Amino acid sequence: MSALSELYDNIRCCEKCEIARSRIKVVPGEGAEDAEIMFIGEAPGFHEDQQGRPFVGPAGKFLDELLASINLNRQQVYIANVIKCRPPANRDPLPQEILNCREWLNRQIEIINPKVVVTLGRYSMAMFFPQKTISKIHGTAEKRNGVLYVAMYHPAAALHQGNLKDVIKADFLRLPGYISAYNKTAEAKEEKKESSPVTKQLNMFEV
Ligand code: URA
Repeated sequence: MSALSELYDNIRCCEKCEIARSRIKVVPGEGAEDAEIMFIGEAPGFHEDQQGRPFVGPAGKFLDELLASINLNRQQVYIANVIKCRPPANRDPLPQEILNCREWLNRQIEIINPKVVVTLGRYSMAMFFPQKTISKIHGTAEKRNGVLYVAMYHPAAALHQGNLKDVIKADFLRLPGYISAYNKTAEAKEEKKESSPVTKQLNMFEV
C-alpha cells in the first residue's frame, strides 16, 4: 500500500470535528505522489462532498482550464484542501477545524514533497503567508526551506468576481517560469557541489 493510500484510509476514519457527521464523503486530495506542484484549496463544497474528490464543481472546471493553460493536467499535479470535510452550507472553515486537519495536510506535504506549493484563496494563504494580504502578494513566489510558495486567488472567487479572472489567469502563466528558475537553481547548486575542492579531492580517491 502506498504512503498516500494509507494516509487516505486514516483521513477517511477521522471524526475529530463535528462536520465529520454531516459529510457524505471525505475529500482527502488527489494527484501524483511525485507531483512537483501541489495546489491547496479551502474546503470541499457540494460536488466534492458527493464525489470524495477535490475541485470537481465549477471552481474545479476553472482550475482544470488554468492547468491546461500551462500544459498541465490533474494527473501531473497534486490537489488538496485545508480541510477535508464539507462545512455545512459551505460556511467558512472554523479555526479548530483547520487545526484538526493540519496533521493530514502536513503529512500530505511530507509525502508529496513538492517543489512548489500554490495556495488557492485566503485560508490556504493564511497557513503559509500569515499576516499577508492576497491582493498584495498574489502571483508572487517566496522560497523557504527549498520549497517555493506561491499565493493565488481562489478560482471560485475569480469566477464570482469577473475582474479577478484575468488576474488569476496571468498568475498561473507565471508558474512555469518559477518552476524552471527553481530547477536551474537546483542544478547550479548541484554543479557547485560537484566542482567544490573537497568533492574534487574526494573524487581522486574514487576507483
Ligand atoms: N473549493 C475548494 O477550496 N476546494 C474544493 O475542493 C472545491 C472548491
